[in-house]
Amino acid sequence: MPMDVCCEIRSVEEGKLRFLPLLLLADPCERMVSRYLDAGEVFVMECGGEAVCVAVVVRGEDGECELKNLAVAEPWQGRGCGSRMVRFLLDRFAPVAKAMLVGTADSGVPFYERFGFEYAFRVPGFFTENYPEPVVEEDGRLCVDMLYCRKVFGSGVPVV
Ligand SMILES: CC(C)(COP(=O)(O)OP(=O)(O)OC[C@H]1O[C@@H](n2cnc3c(N)ncnc32)[C@H](O)[C@@H]1OP(=O)(O)O)[C@@H](O)C(=O)NCCC(=O)NCCS
Repeated sequence: MPMDVCCEIRSVEEGKLRFLPLLLLADPCERMVSRYLDAGEVFVMECGGEAVCVAVVVRGEDGECELKNLAVAEPWQGRGCGSRMVRFLLDRFAPVAKAMLVGTADSGVPFYERFGFEYAFRVPGFFTENYPEPVVEEDGRLCVDMLYCRKVFGSGVPVV
C-alpha cells in the first residue's frame, strides 16, 4: 500500500498504551516510555486503519518541546513515514514552541539533520546508566551516550 495515498496523522487523546509495541521499537524500555507517555502528546499515522508510525512530544516549561519517541513499524520503514511525521510535528509545534529537541543514539543524528536539526549536546552514559539491558544500534554498536539535536523555530514564542 503506498504511503501517501491513504495515510493520515491524528492526535491520540486516550488509549496511548495501545501503541506501546511500536514505541518500544524506538525506546526499548517500558519503564522509560512510561515516564513520558502520560504527559506527552501522542500522534499516530494510520494507513488503511493500521498504525504505522507513532510519535510522542513533551512540552517543557522553558518553551521548548522534545520529541521523545518516533517509531515506524518495521514493514513501513524506509517508505517516508518517519519523514512525514517529523515534518508534521515541525509544522504543528513551530507556532507554539521556541524549539524542538530530540535525543537519539549516534546513528539517529543524520536523520534529524535532514530536517534542520543541529547537534546540541550529549549526555554521557545515558543509555548504559538508565537502561536495564544494553541498547544496541541496528549495526550492532552499543548505545552509550544520548545525543541531543535541536531545531530552533524562531517564532518569537516567549519563554514561559
Ligand atoms: C528511524 C526511523 C524513524 C526513520 O523513519 P523511516 O520512515 O524509516 O524513514 P524515511 O523513509 O522517512 O527515511 C527518510 C530518509 O532518512 C534516511 N534514514 C532513515 N533512518 C535513518 C537513520 N537512522 N539515520 C540516517 N538516515 C536515516 C533514509 O535512508 C531516507 O533517506 P533517502 O530519502 O535518501 O532514501 C524509522 O526507521 C524507525 O522507526 N526505526 C526504528 C526505531 C528508531 O530507531 N527510532 C529512533 C529514531 S532516530
